[in-house]
Amino acid sequence: MSAAATQKLPTYVWEPTTDFLAAHYGLARESIVRFDVNTSPLAPDLRDVLAGSFDPPLCEYPPSDYASLVAAAAASYDVTPEEVLPTAGADEALDLTARAYLREGSVAVVATPTYAMYRIVSEQRGARVAAVPRLGPESGFRLDIRALAEAARGAQLVWLCEPNNPSGAFEPPERIGELLAALESGAVRDRREAPIVAVDEAYSEFVGRTVLPLRCDYSRLVVIRTLSKAHALAGIRVGFAIARPETLAPILSFRAPASVGTVSAALATASLTRPELAADNVARITAQRKRLADELSAIGWRPYPSQANFILVRFTSPGSAASAGDALLRKGLVPRTFGLDHPLADCLRLTVRSAEENDRLIDAARGFPA
Ligand SMILES: Cc1ncc(COP(=O)(O)O)c(C=O)c1O
Repeated sequence: MSAAATQKLPTYVWEPTTDFLAAHYGLARESIVRFDVNTSPLAPDLRDVLAGSFDPPLCEYPPSDYASLVAAAAASYDVTPEEVLPTAGADEALDLTARAYLREGSVAVVATPTYAMYRIVSEQRGARVAAVPRLGPESGFRLDIRALAEAARGAQLVWLCEPNNPSGAFEPPERIGELLAALESGAVRDRREAPIVAVDEAYSEFVGRTVLPLRCDYSRLVVIRTLSKAHALAGIRVGFAIARPETLAPILSFRAPASVGTVSAALATASLTRPELAADNVARITAQRKRLADELSAIGWRPYPSQANFILVRFTSPGSAASAGDALLRKGLVPRTFGLDHPLADCLRLTVRSAEENDRLIDAARGFPA
């Protein structure tokens, strides 16, 4: 690829670092709370794993099959080990799926507004993105199944995010099943011509439902999971692509031999085999989500219903969202804002955090009418 072509590749723009924000706003680093990256406020206590010895030891590479991690994930997600590919976070799984199934001139369907990476990894492969808007907020940001099926005719890949970031809306698996059935009947000549459907379930533990069983009927389904959200382990960078073995094989062929480190694999295995850790986190966050939404509503902010660990709040105009966002930032409370050209420019997205951190947010919000 030429240097000019490389420069035009879309890239993910990371949120500013906490150190940067502290210096920029003249705040103490410890006073800054990240309401913008949808992580959990407290990591699980896995000190015993860190204090123990690693097998193989850290001077060696991890085993190429990650057998213990794969077994733990397979048991946790109720799939077979042959269907599990560990990756460096969900983001690597998204990238590998695009590498496996998209090339110059491919078409990738994206239900929007949604997580930015689907467009980025698709366009990086030279694919054209066909955006299919989700229905409006008055219809609960539901998927437009008919429009998706229509756009997916002749497409190679369909990206879905359930529950959806940033709306927090959730489409039940039965409805995704309807889409898969429509795609399958559209691929009249050969089922292998049906598009790959990649469902990013980064937040699925918060709603307790999954499309995973649908892979048995629709073999071109790829489900993406992560330990960054409900498991509160974003720093270890572990996620998974889960699919029927024949669909997973091309994805595996693009992964570097050992992209997940031994320490990360051990922590991930422990978290998956101690399900009470993630379950407790989900229970805490779900309770806080209700409290945060109720309190924000009580002071006149307008949160949309959410099935994830964040809340999308609508303001009367992009200007009022931006000034509320700026006021929060000045107090060290970092919201997710959307650019002026974004369909959610008049919204802020707020991660649900600990009771104390949410209290700071609620107090700061009082001064700002929505
Ligand atoms: C929908 C979605 N998918 C994937 C990711 C990235 O997950 P990971 O940390 O596992 O790479 C995020 C992070 O915010 C996300 O919102």
